[in-house]
Amino acid sequence: MKYKRMPIEMEAPEGYGYDNIDCNLSESSFTDQRLSDLGISLEDIVLFYGDHKGKPALRRMIADEINISGEDVLVTPGAAAALFIVATSMLDKGDHAVIAKSNYATNIETPRAIGATISYLQMNFDNGYQLDLDALEKMIIPNTKLVSLTYPHNPTGVLIDEDTLHKIIAIIEKKKTFLLMDETYRDMSFVKPLPVAATLSKRVISISSMSKSYGLPGIRIGWIVCRNQELMDTFLAAKEQIFISNSVVDEEIAFRYLINKEKLFAPVKQMILSNFTLLKNFMEQQQVLEWVEPQGGCVCFPRIKKEIAIDTRNFHEVLLNKYSTYVGRGHWFEEDGRYMRIGYSWDKTEKLAKGLSNILKAIEDSAG
Ligand SMILES: Cc1ncc(COP(=O)(O)O)c(C=O)c1O
Repeated sequence: MKYKRMPIEMEAPEGYGYDNIDCNLSESSFTDQRLSDLGISLEDIVLFYGDHKGKPALRRMIADEINISGEDVLVTPGAAAALFIVATSMLDKGDHAVIAKSNYATNIETPRAIGATISYLQMNFDNGYQLDLDALEKMIIPNTKLVSLTYPHNPTGVLIDEDTLHKIIAIIEKKKTFLLMDETYRDMSFVKPLPVAATLSKRVISISSMSKSYGLPGIRIGWIVCRNQELMDTFLAAKEQIFISNSVVDEEIAFRYLINKEKLFAPVKQMILSNFTLLKNFMEQQQVLEWVEPQGGCVCFPRIKKEIAIDTRNFHEVLLNKYSTYVGRGHWFEEDGRYMRIGYSWDKTEKLAKGLSNILKAIEDSAG
C-alpha cells in the first residue's frame, strides 16, 4: 500500500478549526448531535472487546429493517473502515476496478494506494451526472474485481432509479464481477429510497453509516451488508486484523439511536428538506452559479458558470479569509475550482443563508 493524504482530509474543517469558520458549508452530514439531543445517557457499560462482527442486537436491528439475516451484517468503525476493508479484500496490485468519478475521495484513493488499475466512470455536469450503463459494461474486463458506485451520490446528491439499479446488477452478474455500493446517504433520499443493493444479489456489497443522516460521525459506526458468506469471512478477517472489534461504547449509542430512529430521524429529515427549499430558492434567484439539482443527501455540487472569468483560487481564498465561509473545494473531488460542494444541513439555517450570500460576494470580488 502506498498511502497519500487526500486534500479533502488535509483541508478538513476540523483541522482548520471550527471556531475559525463563521459559515461552515463544507460538511457532508447533518448537524453533529449531542448525546443529550438524543435523550441518551450512558450508565455503566462493560468495556470489553465485544462481538467481532458487531453487537448482535445492533446487527439484527440493521438486518431486520431490510429483511436479511444478522449474519449478513458486519459492523465497522464508520463507512470509511468498511470501504477500506472491502477495497483491500477485493483488490490486489494490478487488479482492475471501475470507479465512478467524482466520488467520495476514499473510494478512489484506497484502490489507488493498493496499486489497482482503475477505469473511471466519469460523471459529467453537462449530462446531469447520469450514469452511462453502456460505458460501464464496456469498462468491465475479465480482470475487473470491483465496480464502485455511490448513491445518493457525494458530492452531487444525484440518484439513480430502481430500474437502473436492477440494470447495473444485471451487468455485474453477467460479467461475474462485484459491485461495491456506498449507500451512506440512503436515508436522506428525497424520493423513496432505493433498495439496499446487497439485498438484490450476492455479488453486491452495500456500505452504510451512522455518520451522515443522523449526524453521528463521532461514534464511528458503519456497516457492510453482503449475502456472500465467503466474502463476509474475508471482511471479518480484515476487520479483526485492523480493529478486532468496534468500540462497545459507540455500538451502544448506535443501538440506542436506531431503537428510536423513527422519532429521532423525523425532525432531521424535515430540517434537511426545509434547508433544501432555502437552497433551491437561492439557486433560482441568482445568475452566477448553475447546478444539477440533488435528489437526496445533504450536499450539492454547483459550479460557477463558465462564461464568468474568475480566478478560482482567489475565489476560495476570499470566501474563506474575507467572508469566513467554507465550502468543499472542487479539487477535493479532483474537479476544477469552479465547482464547490455545498453542505446545506450541517450549519444553522441562518448560517446557510449567510454563507450562500457570501459565495455570491466572493464571486463578485474575484471575477475579472
Ligand atoms: C459517500 C461516503 N462514504 C463514506 C463516508 C465515510 O463515512 P464514515 O464517517 O461513516 O466513515 C463518507 C464521508 O464523508 C461519504 O461521504
